[in-house]
Amino acid sequence: MTETRAQNAAATPQRNTSKRTVLMCRPDFFTVSYQINPWMHPERPTDTDLAVRQWGELYRTYLDLGFTVELIDPVPGLPDMVYAANGGFVLDNIAYGANFTYPERQPEGPAYMDWFRANGFDVRVPKEVNEGEGDFLLVGDVILAGTGFRTDRASHREVAEIFGREVISLELVNPSFYHIDTAIAVLDPSPADGESPNIAYLPSAFNEAGLEVLRSRYPDAILVSEEDASVLGLNSYSDGRNVVIASRAKGFEKQLRERGYNPIGVDLSELLLGGGGVKCCTLELRR
Ligand code: ARG
Repeated sequence: MTETRAQNAAATPQRNTSKRTVLMCRPDFFTVSYQINPWMHPERPTDTDLAVRQWGELYRTYLDLGFTVELIDPVPGLPDMVYAANGGFVLDNIAYGANFTYPERQPEGPAYMDWFRANGFDVRVPKEVNEGEGDFLLVGDVILAGTGFRTDRASHREVAEIFGREVISLELVNPSFYHIDTAIAVLDPSPADGESPNIAYLPSAFNEAGLEVLRSRYPDAILVSEEDASVLGLNSYSDGRNVVIASRAKGFEKQLRERGYNPIGVDLSELLLGGGGVKCCTLELRR
């Protein structure tokens, strides 16, 4: 083998997948009728049928990857319910419920908790304000927790107590990246023994204290450009090898390929009008 080929082989490690179970919510009632993040412009028209078709692409992509996809019924009058990631944080069969910041989304909390209960999860009703997996990311054994715009820091302690895991608080500073899942992508959610998990992130979304943590914990992280982050490229979902991303995040796609991942682009332009992408539409169920 030539040296170049050997180097390439080293640079593109064998990535292992593991089967995922996720919860999704069809955007039957999707629209933008209020503004709770800078992406949302209620005066601009939305196309609910197009949102449903684009969401359907994501749904089929997951089925093709062999994922189990469970569905929660959408509720009329809750247009953001499609962003299932915010419905809770589920680990070890425990479902920590969401307690939304804005009144417009508050009824989603009980709706998701009812679903978790009906599907055999040990539901913990939250005391503190939090927006579920939008602000809690499991990376290996630790939970990266966002705060600054939505999820209250007090809920980070609540999560640490409930799940008995290390929770690392990271403060978000750019209102366009208001949930941690818009600023960090988890690439190896549960790496094989001896392998360390990796992430991708947008440095400018964090304050200096957060950046120090990210740099020291994840020295090999992929640093994503503003351009790719601004189509919510980081709002992606990985099974350890296949990374479902926004199809417009071309630079991130290339970075992923160089690292031996298999990026799969999906166009969710209509759901971007609500300020969400691939990951927002996906809540992982870890039983
Ligand atoms: N319109 C929704 C909101 O502002 C979008 C939620 C996106 N979800 C996410 N996990 N980042 O709450």
